Amino acid sequence: MRETRPIIALDFPSFDQVKSFLARFPSDEKLYVKIGMELYYAVGPEIVRYVKSLGHSVFLDLKLHDIPNTVRSAMAALAKLGVDMTNVHAAGGVEMMKAARDGLGAETKLIAVTQLTSTSEEQMKEFQNIQTSLVESVVHYAQKTAEAGLDGVVCSAQEVELIKKATPADFVCLTPGIRPSGAEVGDQKRVMTPSAARAIGSDYIVVGRPITQAHDPVQAYRDIKDEWNR
Ligand code: C5P
Repeated sequence: MRETRPIIALDFPSFDQVKSFLARFPSDEKLYVKIGMELYYAVGPEIVRYVKSLGHSVFLDLKLHDIPNTVRSAMAALAKLGVDMTNVHAAGGVEMMKAARDGLGAETKLIAVTQLTSTSEEQMKEFQNIQTSLVESVVHYAQKTAEAGLDGVVCSAQEVELIKKATPADFVCLTPGIRPSGAEVGDQKRVMTPSAARAIGSDYIVVGRPITQAHDPVQAYRDIKDEWNR
């Protein structure tokens, strides 16, 4: 099921910056935000409680990867924070992903990272000793993620069509690397516009700097949201 709100990556180093950024939006506008490792480890669980207290939805992007028992307990702790979506590394295995689901409960969305987009095919072959193409590895991990009962994967927009073909109909793809046409690409290598991401079947888009660094973040958010829903 496609989420109509673009997920805003709250890549800020401090609590104060998050507060002033969110304060720009009308209080009745409920956002969907991504809290990543930097902010979570710097501020702690308080940041999630704060954002939830404002009525926003939270994707907690911590990419857990450990033995199944540890991941189950960690997920139970995250469930108590009331997050709406979180994630694991598919490389942890089917048992680990099932344990994550078990600890988190059925209501919270749980997705997996396949191959990080910072990993090249050469690195994967040489370092991980996986002798297939990168995209075959991504699709394999996505199928294992579905088998473990998770909701979907984080992937590059370029991978969505292949993943959708190889997984059940309700399996979701969350895609970062989204740039409205004409925007700064920054350090992202392969980008896609919100309308192109919609056309290829992304269910969630994650957008950071084009909103957080914009002169008028609220307007930038609205424009991206409009393009995503048009
Ligand atoms: O600022 P920007 O829109 O590039 O931010 C994208 C967000 O999505 C960042 O938080 C980044 O870490 C995250 N991300 C990504 N590519 C991935 C996985 C996560 O850009 N493959």
